[in-house]
Amino acid sequence: MDYLDELLARQIPNEEETRKLAAISSAIINKIDNICRNENIDATCVEVGSVSKNTNLKSSDIDIFITFDRSYPVDYIEKKGLEIGHRVLENGTEKYAEHPYVSGYIDGIKVDIVPAFKIGKGEKIVSTVDRTPLHTVYVNNNTDEKTIHDIRLLKVFLKSINVYGSEIAKSGFSGYLCEVLIIHFKSFGRFIEYMANLRGKLIIPEETIDKFNEPVIIIDPVDPLRNAGAAVSQENLSRLKLASRIYMKGRTDLFNRIPVVKRKRETNIKIFVVEKPDIIDDIIYPQAVRLKNRIWDIFQENGFIPTASEIYVGKDIEILIEYKLEELPGIEIHKGPPVESNEAIKFIDVWNSNPRLMRGPYIMDDRIYVDVKTRIRNMEGIIRKELKNEDIGKNLNQFKDEIKILSIDENSPLEVEKRFYSKYLF
Ligand code: UTP
Ligand code: MN
Repeated sequence: MDYLDELLARQIPNEEETRKLAAISSAIINKIDNICRNENIDATCVEVGSVSKNTNLKSSDIDIFITFDRSYPVDYIEKKGLEIGHRVLENGTEKYAEHPYVSGYIDGIKVDIVPAFKIGKGEKIVSTVDRTPLHTVYVNNNTDEKTIHDIRLLKVFLKSINVYGSEIAKSGFSGYLCEVLIIHFKSFGRFIEYMANLRGKLIIPEETIDKFNEPVIIIDPVDPLRNAGAAVSQENLSRLKLASRIYMKGRTDLFNRIPVVKRKRETNIKIFVVEKPDIIDDIIYPQAVRLKNRIWDIFQENGFIPTASEIYVGKDIEILIEYKLEELPGIEIHKGPPVESNEAIKFIDVWNSNPRLMRGPYIMDDRIYVDVKTRIRNMEGIIRKELKNEDIGKNLNQFKDEIKILSIDENSPLEVEKRFYSKYLF
């Protein structure tokens, strides 16, 4: 038995789970259809997502859509959607994607109840979730037992190399992409072989004219104008290419290897910890990335020489920076104007009377320079000062003055550092 088949065997839901999911879905759908009938709401309730297509792995969620007639205004379906969602999911909480929706648990199973507009194939959508019920129809019309098996196998494979999931923090392959890819290639084996030999972008169908910028272009079979692969990052495409080559060579030892991470690096590593507001990760993550880039730039501009940066969004936002210099030298070289310019003499006068002048003025090539005393030499002082005047994101600014800075070395607790290890192969 192939190692993947073994992984899959542990991930396929058993009959009991399948029956339980079906019972919960049909109870919810009945309830919602009844509410709509009683209140004369022109809407139909449908199950979507992996459970509706039999492509779910163990402990999957249930995705239920209430599809409203197109004639309703958006406000109405949002309000009604939430109201019905709360009636069905007693402990449900409101989440926000393109529309607000209700998410809760029934018998330990996570259930999302999402409002959308009912559209037919080729009809114009109002928001992207309106396509989702069409995905279910498309996949169910184009799969059989064998393709369903291979879709699950692909999900397991992508999970094992950490590229499954379309949320922004993951930027991997969604469940729907797995379905589209296996339907297109007809089998897991053929897809992996294709990926092992692929050069450049992944473009499906292959003859598609590249009018998108993303590294993965997979035309949505239910909407030819949409790139269903837009969320996949270059790094994750590369991971899949390499993993496919390893798989084709039968080198499963490379999947099971423990990554080499020697901790005595004799560099400087800090982790910036920012409190995470109670907002979904897909909104926070891009702000966290901008903050990481800003911190990197401050390190760079001030001469601390950053060499690596990582981000982890869990309970808090954690930004790791590795860098070469802990403290700046006591002097910095300050470049003045060309000797022939009108400012040359003024520059000399100004610095002559400045107590920060340590040496000079002097000439190099065609300009005047001075060596001046460094104002703030330690990294923390500079970062805190620079961040004070910085917009670090709509939802993060409030926590700017409470950023914690942890020093990491080979004696620090390993768990903290381990959060950043997911990128090491495999
Ligand atoms: P889910 O994220 O629940 O995915 O989105 P899934 O297919 O059910 O897979 P798992 O098993 O939970 O991981 C539900 C549906 O929303 C649409 C798809 O039709 C999907 O089946 N969707 C979701 C997209 O089209 N694109 C996305 O990026 C996410
Ligand atoms: Mn799902």
